[in-house]
Amino acid sequence: MRKLDINLKNSSYDIIVENNILDNLAPYIKEVYKNDKIFIITDDKVKTYYLDRVMKSLENDFKLDYVVVKNGEESKSLETFAYVCEELLKKGIRRNQLLIALGGGVIGDLTGFVASALYRGIPYVGIPTSLLSQMDSSIGGKTGIDFYGRKNILGAFKQPLMVIIDPTTHKTLDAKEFANGMGELIKHGAIGNKKLLDLLLAKPEIDENIIIESLKVKKRVVELDEFDQGERMTLNFGHTFGHAIELKYGYKHGEAVAIGMIMAIKLGIDLNITDSSILDTMKKILKLYNLPIVDYDYHDYLEDIKGDKKNLAGTINFIFVPKLGESIIYKITESELKEKLRCK
Ligand SMILES: NC(=O)c1ccc[n+]([C@@H]2O[C@H](COP(=O)([O-])OP(=O)(O)OC[C@H]3O[C@@H](n4cnc5c(N)ncnc54)[C@H](O)[C@@H]3O)[C@@H](O)[C@H]2O)c1
Ligand SMILES: [Zn+2]
Repeated sequence: MRKLDINLKNSSYDIIVENNILDNLAPYIKEVYKNDKIFIITDDKVKTYYLDRVMKSLENDFKLDYVVVKNGEESKSLETFAYVCEELLKKGIRRNQLLIALGGGVIGDLTGFVASALYRGIPYVGIPTSLLSQMDSSIGGKTGIDFYGRKNILGAFKQPLMVIIDPTTHKTLDAKEFANGMGELIKHGAIGNKKLLDLLLAKPEIDENIIIESLKVKKRVVELDEFDQGERMTLNFGHTFGHAIELKYGYKHGEAVAIGMIMAIKLGIDLNITDSSILDTMKKILKLYNLPIVDYDYHDYLEDIKGDKKNLAGTINFIFVPKLGESIIYKITESELKEKLRCK
């Protein structure tokens, strides 16, 4: 069993990582929750794989009930939010009773948002089951739904009581979903943990150790910048170009981040910020984990990224990786960027 403690201003919690922990959840939940009733929120796909197992491992110690929503991003909606709240109220939920989010990032974001709003806040535990949600949404407390055609536009910061990760859940993930998570995992290595990249190159198997090494990077950044006002920006490495690529070609998010990282590395090299030797290493790792290596020319996307919501008016915030395991936030205006690239 591996454990990582997340320490924030007003709350702290543990992330527990252990193979097959889904069969032994009660002792961990009992550490943080003293009442007897638990409501599990999951989606129809994750339900078929894991709900019975989770219920079995809790049923001797807790009274259980559950709410199932359709799998996929469309469940991060106001309608599904209302449906979950209504079901929970029908089932008689009280303000001191626990929610468990069992599923990928959609279930994590939706359940966290319900937990932040119902009775003005009830406790919840996250059991993320997709690699992406384990790597990414398990730290940071961002919850929310999509609305008015905009992703994550309604939401709240809400920290869980605990996050429990069972790496054996990867076995049932589609190859595409797995690669999706790998994009963010490799990004964590690139921006803040060279050792993680070495481990990924040495043994292509995502075990407890690799998950912890990846989580350490997001932990460090989130603890420095709980409410996303500065340092967390380094997590956007590969995202500036990645968002443009994702929108244009319909790649999965993690795949687009992989392509975006290569574009950001090339731009960094041209600006004399990034050591040129890292390009080949990053391509090698991305290829090893079945992420797309497509050589889009970053010059063609400089126009698109101006509209990226993460860029404040007039200034573009690029994240560069000078060498593997290190990242910097580089603020530059559009005209300065053009000038620098012209001088090349
Ligand atoms: N809150 C945050 O900090 C944060 C960070 C990153 C992403 N997100 C959000 O997370 C969402 C994406 O997460 P996601 O990729 O996990 O999406 P998802 O929850 O839709 O899961 C992807 C698919 O995999 C299935 N699935 C999940 N675990 C499985 C398993 N172990 N075996 C088989 N199938 C499984 C799901 O049913 C779904 O069909 C987006 O909405 C994104 O905005 C949030
Ligand atoms: Zn991302």
